Amino acid sequence: MSAQHASAPRPAEGRVVVVTGAGRGLGRAHALAFARAGARVVVNDLGVALDGATGAKTPARQVAAEIRAEGGEAAVSTDDVADSAGAAGLVRTALDHFGRLDTLVNNAGFLRDRMLVNLDEDDWDAVVRVHLKGHFLPMKHAAAHWRAETKAGRTSGARVVNTSSGAGLLGAVGQGNYTAAKAGIAALTLVAAAEFGRYGVQVNAVAPAARTRMTEQTFAEDMAAPTDGGFDAMAPENVSPLVVYLGSAASAGVTGRVFEAEGGRITVMDGWRRTAHTDKSARWDVTELDAPIRKLLDEAPAPEPVYGAQ
Ligand SMILES: NC(=O)c1ccc[n+]([C@@H]2O[C@H](COP(=O)([O-])OP(=O)(O)OC[C@H]3O[C@@H](n4cnc5c(N)ncnc54)[C@H](O)[C@@H]3O)[C@@H](O)[C@H]2O)c1
Repeated sequence: MSAQHASAPRPAEGRVVVVTGAGRGLGRAHALAFARAGARVVVNDLGVALDGATGAKTPARQVAAEIRAEGGEAAVSTDDVADSAGAAGLVRTALDHFGRLDTLVNNAGFLRDRMLVNLDEDDWDAVVRVHLKGHFLPMKHAAAHWRAETKAGRTSGARVVNTSSGAGLLGAVGQGNYTAAKAGIAALTLVAAAEFGRYGVQVNAVAPAARTRMTEQTFAEDMAAPTDGGFDAMAPENVSPLVVYLGSAASAGVTGRVFEAEGGRITVMDGWRRTAHTDKSARWDVTELDAPIRKLLDEAPAPEPVYGAQ
């Protein structure tokens, strides 16, 4: 590491961290932050275009070179995270290069936004595949490794940090495919946290907001860097400290939670929970339901608005 980082505390010292989609945007910021925090990093990126179309596989190599230029250690993976062999390859790359795996950051993905009425089946499949399957498969292969470690008597202290989104938590107009995938990731995080706890693995998710190629055009005004030299709240680097914390030993005991992260603000997001209820202790007749349903809706908390809804 450079002299600039040499004296800083290194909360991820000794850890081996896989970051998917780390060639650009948020993933790049996370990979660099982990390396500066002392981790050895597997920089994964398939190098696809904004809509997932095949692209040059150079971004992962570039970020690995940036890490090495700062004196850190990095290995490159150009595996497809949503492919079983690719997801297995992530774990293998960590073990082959660094002999261990401590943290998996699932972050890779792309968008194909359309109103539901215009959404092609291909655009549905591609977006659900890269985000939802692209979280499931790396978690499955990483967990198989950590289960084997536990069986061999070694404690893993491992961490998974998943990437949901405000769209997945509240819904977003024009992003039905993405919303469904990111909502699935939030729910999958809860299941993984409950299942992997027995192997000493903690699983949390972040819902970030930052200026990347994914957002800089659609939300140009909200994402712009300040011109007066003030805090650049939408810089992707602002999300990385939380991701490094959740991916490090310091977050012991924190699991199964979803955090929204934007600029300097961190919010604990709370999902579905039972609110107002009624029980007739017998089967309802359709004709008697209107009044009790309206009463329940009056009593229940109002839902948060869907992003982009009028
Ligand atoms: N930018 C935001 O404000 C925002 C908001 C909410 C959620 N997110 C989520 O954060 C994550 C990162 O997004 P970003 O804004 O940095 O976008 P980005 O496009 O800058 O980076 C995503 C990277 O993932 C890679 N990738 C895509 N498919 C892949 C695959 N199958 N295997 C491996 N790599 C693949 C791409 O090549 C790209 O480099 C995504 O999951 C995104 O949905 C971003």
